Amino acid sequence: TWTMAGFRDLEIARIRKQVGDGKVICGLSGGVDSSVAAKLIHDAIGDQLTCIFVDPGILRAGEADEVVKTFRDRFNIQLVHRDASDLFLGELAGVTDPEVKRKTIGRLFIEVFEQEAAKLGGAQFLAQGTLYPDVIESVSFNGGPSVTIKSHHNVGGLPERMNMELVEPLRELFKDEVRALGREIGVPEHIVGRHPFPGPGLAIRIPGDITREKLDLLRKVDSIYLEEIRKAGLYDEIWQAFAVLLPVRTVGVMGDDRTYDQACALRAVTSTDGMTAEVYPFTFEFLNRVAGRIVNEVRGINRVTYDITSKPPGTIEWE
Ligand code: XMP
Repeated sequence: TWTMAGFRDLEIARIRKQVGDGKVICGLSGGVDSSVAAKLIHDAIGDQLTCIFVDPGILRAGEADEVVKTFRDRFNIQLVHRDASDLFLGELAGVTDPEVKRKTIGRLFIEVFEQEAAKLGGAQFLAQGTLYPDVIESVSFNGGPSVTIKSHHNVGGLPERMNMELVEPLRELFKDEVRALGREIGVPEHIVGRHPFPGPGLAIRIPGDITREKLDLLRKVDSIYLEEIRKAGLYDEIWQAFAVLLPVRTVGVMGDDRTYDQACALRAVTSTDGMTAEVYPFTFEFLNRVAGRIVNEVRGINRVTYDITSKPPGTIEWE
């Protein structure tokens, strides 16, 4: 019979056989997929693996520190941490088109990753946490003709360009199976249970151009929202929850004064693979509490909306 422990042993054997005594480089994002892939590969081949973590400056609050703490300090995995936020935010300045954002971010990830890989003296193998739905969705959408809905940059042209062979131990798995595998191999719950986070990060949750100020504002809103979700014990029932900073200013009132500040949207969906999604039915009381905290605690936001669009026709992310 098929068990997760059996799958792990099989994959470890497969990785060892594929890699031999070669060197493997793995791009780490802090998300579930690359984390589980990195830990599994480290279990298989130890220090033949080096992880590269590129911080693009568009992550959630506190995430970069957490990646370093978990992988370098706790797992003893060789880790290169490159803070590339100036580069990313510089190149993204003034960019408003979603596909241009995605392509710019994808290109920069590749460029920075290549630079760091070169500094390490290169490697024969490139590890990626590609899942089964990534493989499908990048080829076709909902079984239909091949149309690019959004350019995902995590299944891009990196290996061909770098002339590296791919190591993709999660290629046959769905998200829930990756989580089960992660638990089996000791990846901590706060990573294994984490909601998916897209490569283009907060950049695709800020329609319009991206600035440090907007990113800071969005991080504050997002933190409050997620804190309340966790407090209410709802985090694990939800596939993804996040805030979107809207490129709209609206009139409000604070005390005796008129305000003219930005609006934000909250999104939460349930899903099994990200290919379709339903809106999460929060109670009105919960939404009301979150909205109250946001407008009271985040200066610059005076209006909160809840996105009630399922996928299809909406996508999960706004861009
Ligand atoms: P959409 O917005 O297309 O997203 O409904 C489906 C799932 O994919 C995530 N997503 C991405 N993940 N790189 C990623 O690694 C990307 O470029 C990307 N774009 C969207 C999204 O968060 C959702 O879980």
